[in-house]
Amino acid sequence: MAFLFILPTWPVEVWTSAMRKVAPRLDVRSWPDQMGDVADIDYAAAWLPPANVLKGLPNLKVIFSLGAGVDAILKDPTLPPGIPIVRVNEPDLTGRMTEYIVLHVLMHHRQQRRLDENQRRKVWDSFPTHAASDLAVGIMGLGVMGQDSAERLRDLGFKVAGWSRTRKHIPGVHCYAGQAEFDSFLRRTDILVSLLPATPETDGIINRETIGKLSRKGPFGAPIVINAGRGRQQVAEDVLAALDSGALHAATLDVFAVEPLPPDSPLWTHPKVTITPHCAADSDPEVICAYVARQIERHQSGKPLDNLVDMARGY
Ligand code: NAP
Ligand code: GLV
Repeated sequence: MAFLFILPTWPVEVWTSAMRKVAPRLDVRSWPDQMGDVADIDYAAAWLPPANVLKGLPNLKVIFSLGAGVDAILKDPTLPPGIPIVRVNEPDLTGRMTEYIVLHVLMHHRQQRRLDENQRRKVWDSFPTHAASDLAVGIMGLGVMGQDSAERLRDLGFKVAGWSRTRKHIPGVHCYAGQAEFDSFLRRTDILVSLLPATPETDGIINRETIGKLSRKGPFGAPIVINAGRGRQQVAEDVLAALDSGALHAATLDVFAVEPLPPDSPLWTHPKVTITPHCAADSDPEVICAYVARQIERHQSGKPLDNLVDMARGY
């Protein structure tokens, strides 16, 4: 029984040594140079795996995504059918995302970019501020990540709502569900946060029409977008046009349709855009390897795997 890492964009040695540390008896291998006999490989863990690699493992029993999202695995047209895919659901990863969402909501709410610019220009301008309770934050995606962010923002005093496919019940958070309630959710939202997975239904969801439905009654007179879900969710031209016309006040973007974001993208230099390099929630090698090792133990002892991807839903 062997375990394979497929990590074309991550430092694979860091991951193999973390896995050997947490699971010393596991035969840990790595693509492409240390695969050994592929017939030995029962388990594979991947981040952005190239197409055709997973299909070349004839005895594969479980695929692990090393992040919460699984879109990069599901997009492989040669993905072998019927093999369960486990995604990450770990308090460490969730906590990092919540820090990011809270940080960026607060950054916009407290107008930190304006203060930074004033400091740069040595301007003492103590402009009036508003209360957290003046701002309505709306989170698209009330899964593991979205729920945690919603609860923390609620505790800070923001008016928090969330939107998901199926109805959620979170004390102090107004929960909208399904397409039929999307417009009502947007209409009350001053800061729109995306923590949605990438699926055909969520592709392009942050577009001109969506932005046009957001609230303009908030303290900034125009809404703000924070996308830490997946880059395919934002139509970059629509976001830029909305920022330029004043239909959007500002945007924080952690994810992009093409990553790394190409140097010639106008998003890099737009004064109302804050860019981060898909780092909202980083997977910590030791924590994630311990999680994967626990799942392998469960599988070996015939117990059900946790956090299985529903292939029909696509997340
Ligand atoms: P999750 O637990 O699977 O939650 C996904 C949420 O999205 C669920 O509430 C789901 O609704 C909702 N949803 C899916 N499709 C929808 C649709 N068409 N309409 C309305 N709601 C929809 O996932 P998670 O662990 O919270 O992670 C969410 C995403 O965050 C990941 O897929 C990944 O793309 C992203 N992420 C990004 C980073 C980063 O560093 N930027 C890090 C980690 C994760 P139901 O509850 O009704 O199913
Ligand atoms: C990161 O993007 C993840 O999906 O965990």
